[in-house]
Amino acid sequence: MAVRTNYLTVLAVLGLIPIVQGMYILESLACKLGYGLLVQGANCSSTVVISSQSDANDISSCNTIDGDVQIAENYANSLALTGITHITGSLVVNGTTNITSFTAPDLIIIEKNLELISCILLTDLNMTELTLVGDMNLEALPNLQRLYFDSGVRAAGGISITNTGLVKLDGLEITSASNGINITANTALTDISFNSLTNTSSLFIQANSNKLAVNLPNLVAVQNLTVTNTTSLSIPSLYHLTGQLQIFSSWINNFSTGPLQAGTDIVFMDNALLSNISMPDLTSLSGDLIITGNSVLKEINGFSSLANVQGIIDVTGNYTE
Ligand SMILES: *[C@@H]1O[C@H](CO)[C@@H](O)[C@H](O)[C@H]1NC(C)=O
Ligand SMILES: *[C@@H]1O[C@H](CO)[C@@H](O)[C@H](O)[C@H]1NC(C)=O
Ligand SMILES: *[C@@H]1O[C@H](CO)[C@@H](O)[C@H](O)[C@H]1NC(C)=O
Ligand SMILES: *[C@@H]1O[C@H](CO)[C@@H](O)[C@H](O)[C@H]1NC(C)=O
Ligand SMILES: *[C@@H]1O[C@H](CO)[C@@H](O)[C@H](O)[C@H]1NC(C)=O
Ligand SMILES: *[C@@H]1O[C@H](CO)[C@@H](O)[C@H](O)[C@H]1NC(C)=O
Ligand SMILES: *[C@@H]1O[C@H](CO)[C@@H](O)[C@H](O)[C@H]1NC(C)=O
Ligand SMILES: *[C@@H]1O[C@H](CO)[C@@H](O)[C@H](O)[C@H]1NC(C)=O
Ligand SMILES: *[C@@H]1O[C@H](CO)[C@@H](O)[C@H](O)[C@H]1NC(C)=O
Ligand SMILES: *[C@@H]1O[C@H](CO)[C@@H](O)[C@H](O)[C@H]1NC(C)=O
Repeated sequence: MAVRTNYLTVLAVLGLIPIVQGMYILESLACKLGYGLLVQGANCSSTVVISSQSDANDISSCNTIDGDVQIAENYANSLALTGITHITGSLVVNGTTNITSFTAPDLIIIEKNLELISCILLTDLNMTELTLVGDMNLEALPNLQRLYFDSGVRAAGGISITNTGLVKLDGLEITSASNGINITANTALTDISFNSLTNTSSLFIQANSNKLAVNLPNLVAVQNLTVTNTTSLSIPSLYHLTGQLQIFSSWINNFSTGPLQAGTDIVFMDNALLSNISMPDLTSLSGDLIITGNSVLKEINGFSSLANVQGIIDVTGNYTE
């Protein structure tokens, strides 16, 4: 509001208009006079805290915000952040319980993080032009069912999506995630398909819908891959596994890998429907092989090339082969 005072004061001092005139006239007049930026009065070079829609309107001429954009906790109802294409810091909406919709139709780049946390009433998240973020953290958003990232978020340091109402993860066209991916406790989530993902440090998928299908058709390299409570997992391209592959408490019928040759540990535990494991090219593990509690797994013949396990081999169950 200091901003508006400035602008009014400047124009009044210049004798151009009486202070009593309406905003529309002030703004159009000032624009004609070339005071566009002054009218908005925005400081585009510092962190912005938005407590009202008019705070957001005040920075709509900025194009780039050189700092963070934070939405105040007590913001309620819908918010449109227009005009901003680039945030050099983070966009943070944390504890804004009563925000119901957030749209940022022009925003293309968030250089640091997108943090949306504990926005309990949020149902609409429309960031249709967003293509680049650092880390993305979506947490405690129980009423958010869909993501409208229509352009596709094409790069991310890491992604964490926990305790949301999401049914699908639309528009996450990431190719690599050096800070890892964690998709946990999204109880309506039935489909995770990262079609562009080739490389991630860790991938952790736990306690989502018990109908979850996971498709990672182009994943070549991963450090640790942990999957629980899942009905299917497809990783046909996996080649570099530098850490652990763990599949727990899932309802996967069959599991296979393609070119995977080596890893550290491989664990299959308590997968009640697992009847077939096929890892034909796997030749060595520098850690453990653990296969236990998979009650319908009767044959273990899927490791036709495995010659070298440096750690423990703990294969328990009733097997015929
Ligand atoms: C904008 O804010 C930054 C950081 O607070 C400050 O250094 C700068 O002087 C401000 N610019 C203007 C024009 O007020
Ligand atoms: C959300 O709205 C409720 C009801 O109006 C209010 O009691 C609560 O303090 C609001 N939450 C925040 C974070 O402002
Ligand atoms: C979100 O708010 C909580 C509680 O105030 C705080 O502990 C946490 O650090 C905040 N997270 C971010 C990313 O701002
Ligand atoms: C978000 O986008 C969806 C799909 O285009 C649309 O149905 C919805 O009304 C939009 N929400 C807002 C707040 O713009
Ligand atoms: C995976 O990405 C990391 C950087 O994040 C890179 O160092 C590594 O070479 C990549 N691995 C493959 C197999 O592409
Ligand atoms: C994933 O997120 C859940 C919930 O926030 C957390 O408990 C868990 O430690 C995280 N896992 C990893 C590997 O970061
Ligand atoms: C992978 O798992 C190992 C063993 O639990 C751990 O030491 C390592 O930090 C994990 N790496 C990542 C990227 O999570
Ligand atoms: C998910 O798996 C965990 C073990 O990782 C188990 O305790 C939990 O009961 C499972 N949840 C469902 C819904 O089956
Ligand atoms: C693997 O299981 C899926 C269903 O979970 C089934 O459609 C597919 O035919 C099975 N493949 C093999 C080779 O058994
Ligand atoms: C297990 O799956 C592999 C590859 O999917 C298949 O070739 C093999 O016949 C299956 N074995 C059984 C016993 O179903």
